[in-house]
Amino acid sequence: MKLKSIFILSLSFMLYTSLQAKEGMWLPHLLAELNEEEMREMGLQLTAEDIYSINQSSLKDGIVSFGGFCTGEVISSKGLVLTNHHCGYRQIQSHSSVENDLLKNGFWAMSTNDELANPGLFVTFIKEIHDVTEEMLANLPADLSEVERERLISERAKNLVADRTHGNSYDGFVRSIYEGNEYLLFLTQRYSDIRLVGAPPSSIGKFGGDTDNWMWPRHTGDFAIFRIYADKNGDPAPYSEDNVPYEPEFHFKLNIGGVKDGDFTMVYGFPGRTEQYLSSWAVEELVETTNPHRIAIRDRKLDIINERMRSSDEIRIKYAGKQAGTANAWKKWQGENKGLYRLNAINKKQQLEADFLAWLDQHPTKKEKYGEVLPRLKKMQKDAAKANFVNIYINEAIYGSDIMKLSRSIKSILQSEGSHEEVADLKGRVNAYLPSYFKDYDTETDRQIFVALSKQYINNVPEEFLPTTFSQVKNSKKGVDAALHDLFDKSALADQEFLNRFTSSSTKDDLKRLKKDPILVLGDEIIRIYEREVSPKIQTFNQERSEAYRLWVAGLREMQTDKRFFPDANSTLRLTYGMVESSKPKDGVQYLTTTHLSGVMTKEDPTNDEFVVPKRLRELYEAKDFGPYGDDDLAVCFISSNHTTGGNSGSPVINAKGELIGTNFDRNWEGTMSDIMFDPDQCRNIAIDIRYTLFIVDKFAGASHLLDEMTIVTERP
Ligand code: ARG
Ligand code: GLU
Repeated sequence: MKLKSIFILSLSFMLYTSLQAKEGMWLPHLLAELNEEEMREMGLQLTAEDIYSINQSSLKDGIVSFGGFCTGEVISSKGLVLTNHHCGYRQIQSHSSVENDLLKNGFWAMSTNDELANPGLFVTFIKEIHDVTEEMLANLPADLSEVERERLISERAKNLVADRTHGNSYDGFVRSIYEGNEYLLFLTQRYSDIRLVGAPPSSIGKFGGDTDNWMWPRHTGDFAIFRIYADKNGDPAPYSEDNVPYEPEFHFKLNIGGVKDGDFTMVYGFPGRTEQYLSSWAVEELVETTNPHRIAIRDRKLDIINERMRSSDEIRIKYAGKQAGTANAWKKWQGENKGLYRLNAINKKQQLEADFLAWLDQHPTKKEKYGEVLPRLKKMQKDAAKANFVNIYINEAIYGSDIMKLSRSIKSILQSEGSHEEVADLKGRVNAYLPSYFKDYDTETDRQIFVALSKQYINNVPEEFLPTTFSQVKNSKKGVDAALHDLFDKSALADQEFLNRFTSSSTKDDLKRLKKDPILVLGDEIIRIYEREVSPKIQTFNQERSEAYRLWVAGLREMQTDKRFFPDANSTLRLTYGMVESSKPKDGVQYLTTTHLSGVMTKEDPTNDEFVVPKRLRELYEAKDFGPYGDDDLAVCFISSNHTTGGNSGSPVINAKGELIGTNFDRNWEGTMSDIMFDPDQCRNIAIDIRYTLFIVDKFAGASHLLDEMTIVTERP
């Protein structure tokens, strides 16, 4: 090869690598140091200070943690918050009934008076982030036990927060990063009067249902709109009719100029949990044991729920949220396992561990410090394997039925040895939660789940962890199924009237009945097994784990001095950047970056409730009545290469100028292993294009008054 062409080749290689998808969920306050230069090379037209600042208004002031489990972005001068339909799903469900079905029909408040309050829902702004590692770790005695260390750490965190929130209206918390090697203080402001403003029908907001979930190409209009209310001074206040729409420091401009391949993108939000530093032994347990078993348990549970939901509208509404939650993780675990196998993840982890050992051999002082860490990571995983396994079955199979979950609360009342007031208080709390429990309860569905999941437990968990009740069931002459049905049918825990009486003013007879209740007896046995055989091992495991991983991550950071590290996601504010980028999920197949309304129409299937298309949407499509949001066709979703995870749902997808071009709601199936191991070739996040969102609000729902509050721009960066 000629020199010149080698030069061109290496130049284009350099360009190519810097323009490739980027792993990393970066800390906003460190962007200037670690990322700004690269982001600008990739196309960013803002400074790090425009993205995160504590001195001036910045993009972060338009971002909220939505309820602690999702993300939202402020999109108007009057506090409108955009998030996902699936993030507001439980709220939408809570306002729904068979007669007034907001899940099915959607909802649009045509004036602020119609906006619906949501007790319990809150959004949190991040005001400031500070590195408090020194304060947290100063003079920590070296020989502290892990328990002592934790106690001291949480005490210091409490004092720090009290200190820094004294005399201002902020709340705060301290979170560890890098497995306890560093600590950050977050000062926050939480608003708790959050009202529902608009949601499309599920046939748009959940179009494609479980079939399309975690998949590309995707055609879901997964958005919902809420509004933050504040007191007259703009400060957080509990719900009150006197509250007024909140006027934010910053709201996102919405760019409807369109999205093209190669466009620079950022996703700014609250990723929940990643585990990039897991050892090979932990990954092995995850892919070979944990995931297959919890997938199998949920297979059964979902078969039942899905069939019951199809049988009646009432059950469909009652179980909508439970079904979505159960199915979502179930499908993700399957994609994660596939991806980890494809990446050869266990092997790669083993390689890293071998490199680490080789590095230790060359550095005696490091060996002294880190020589024990790998043997410890291995041993603790093996030691806890059995307890972890049983724990999966207790969590997923036992507490997979509602009746078993309820048994825990009733048990705590019965067992409470506290004063009369305490018992009364406990009863009061259970009593208060019974109506919402039974609102979403169907006895026959739960009976079937209880029977099926109990069988899974009986068939898979080692004898020594079988509660007496299950041993009897196993040997019952009636057969296992009939014996399990009996347990359920004899229990008082599916009897709402009885429970109401018991939790308000119980008689001696009620108590007598409960003492013999077969479900409570079973629940009791399970708790005893858990407390004696499982929990101590898991506690030891957790302590060993926090200590060993703290060392492991510290060691890795010392070894890989030229690597740019980022801490695992832990529900704190992070920025990821990448670009609108296609991918090749398998040989011969390429994923293009954009889907369109025409694709919705192609997927339409009136006989399958996951793929019903609303009549009005079809009319608009046929008339090509897309307003300013489309021409021949209308963009619906796009993929980009941002490193995201659960909790990033609802996060803004932001262009090079800091304007909103979409709302994140999912990842592609081939990329779901990114929580453990990221692959720039495969990992893509999925967003709803802001043009589709606005089209639905404006043209489909006729809620165009909302657009008057927004700032809409058309010029591409
Ligand atoms: N997979 C996305 C997430 O993890 C969306 C889930 C909601 N959609 C659904 N069909 N269940 O939350
Ligand atoms: N749907 C997810 C959420 O609720 C986001 C998808 C993901 O895990 O990346 O946060």
